[in-house]
Amino acid sequence: MADIYRTIVIFGATGDLAHRMLFPSLYNLDADGLLPEGFTIIGSGRTKQDEAAFREDVNAALEKFLGEGCYDAARAAVFVEKIRYCPVSVGDEGDFSALRDMIGDAADGGIAFYLSTPPSLFAPVVKGLQAAGLTGPNTRIAMEKPIGQDLVSSRAVNAAVAEAFDESHVFRVDHYLGKETVQNLLILRFGNMLLEPLWNANAIEHVQITVAETVGLEGRVSYYDGVGALKDMVQNHVLQLLALVAMEPPARYDAAAVRDEKVKVLRSLRPMTRADAAQCSVKGQYVAGAINGQPVKGYADELGTTSDTETFVALKAFIDNWRWKNVPFYIRTGKRLPSRQSEILIQFKQVPHSIFSGKGRGTTSPLEANALIIRLQPEENIRMQLMAKQPGLDRDGIDLKQVGLDVSLSTAFAKTRRRIAYERLLLDLLEGDTTLFVRRDEVEAAWAWIDSIHAAWAEAGVPARPYTAGTWGPSAAIALTERDGATWHD
Ligand code: BG6
Repeated sequence: MADIYRTIVIFGATGDLAHRMLFPSLYNLDADGLLPEGFTIIGSGRTKQDEAAFREDVNAALEKFLGEGCYDAARAAVFVEKIRYCPVSVGDEGDFSALRDMIGDAADGGIAFYLSTPPSLFAPVVKGLQAAGLTGPNTRIAMEKPIGQDLVSSRAVNAAVAEAFDESHVFRVDHYLGKETVQNLLILRFGNMLLEPLWNANAIEHVQITVAETVGLEGRVSYYDGVGALKDMVQNHVLQLLALVAMEPPARYDAAAVRDEKVKVLRSLRPMTRADAAQCSVKGQYVAGAINGQPVKGYADELGTTSDTETFVALKAFIDNWRWKNVPFYIRTGKRLPSRQSEILIQFKQVPHSIFSGKGRGTTSPLEANALIIRLQPEENIRMQLMAKQPGLDRDGIDLKQVGLDVSLSTAFAKTRRRIAYERLLLDLLEGDTTLFVRRDEVEAAWAWIDSIHAAWAEAGVPARPYTAGTWGPSAAIALTERDGATWHD
């Protein structure tokens, strides 16, 4: 714990993310002895309340979100002692001065500012910090997504932040990068010899990335409507998964090398054109249906009005570089789908020649191509689909069957507690490691591609097609892969 920072200031500390994720994660780090001596958490929000009330709130959130087994009342009582509260109205200089006074000499031990606020407040908060003299070499800033709503606005946010913080001190959070299984993609690819020689257009037919959710709007009406699945999920989480799957081997596992390779992938994404829009993309919006047998409302009913915002998107993307020439990356994500599941499927090509068909001891069943399925959530496992011989005498020809070679990470590491993604990210923020955070050029390259899709949709007038809640999106999403002879892996 060489130069771990000793203070974290959380803006938006009374909000949902702070309660559900940030405080429970800090509690776990504290319980494991990973926070330094004298560590202080300053919660900040618009609400005027005293420290005792805020601590009580945090305690209640810890009990609720950590759950039995993790929450310990005595430990929580010690933890909340580290918490202070400073009400700040963005735009009020006096409030920022009060914050500075509260931090006092602790500033020397390093301050991490965590912006868990609406993105419209990023630039004003940075301004307030700067004016109060709270920025400098001993400070870092973390920001939740979204960074802007398009390339132009993301550049503006990044530029405002860059006025006060050097890029090496900027931590753009994509919580998917904090997930153990997402980090494991790098180990799977670059910690093993087996896969990498086949990891290219010569051997791979296509790639699928699915991030499916069963939840609907969850009360986030004001944020979600007008944003939609493309900006909410694809611009960040899905493109980060895609970059990790498609990147070249970095020279080292460090922030510069890993992010250099990811950004090359993002910049190689083929922009969508108006002509591609109908063939290569599908927008959907759920209507009333059922999830796990329970009836659920449609999006427009939840919203209370009609809207063209997509709650589902499927895309066929291409990465224009040597490794991935003409390999389709089928992407889909949506709300109110039949199950919560995130997975990546690598579909290999057929063997170049089958010795099991035609003359000789032919087969009664065709060869199926290999596939590697990396399940990220809810359970963590890796399955390689291989061909095998069905036991038997095969008098009418050899009988083949595809079988799975399974590795369950949850079983292999059964005794290890699964950490909240934010535990990893908060610790890295305090220790100053940006490897698992998104660099400015990555965010901007991702937006450039997303903007091309939005422009193509607008020009081609692509509508959000209805799909029944609890199904895998509009039928056009099925057609997107079937047209190419591929099938979504459900
Ligand atoms: C968030 C999106 O970034 O990720 C939400 O804004 C989405 O809409 C969530 O539900 C999904 O995260 P996870 O970790 O539950 O897969």
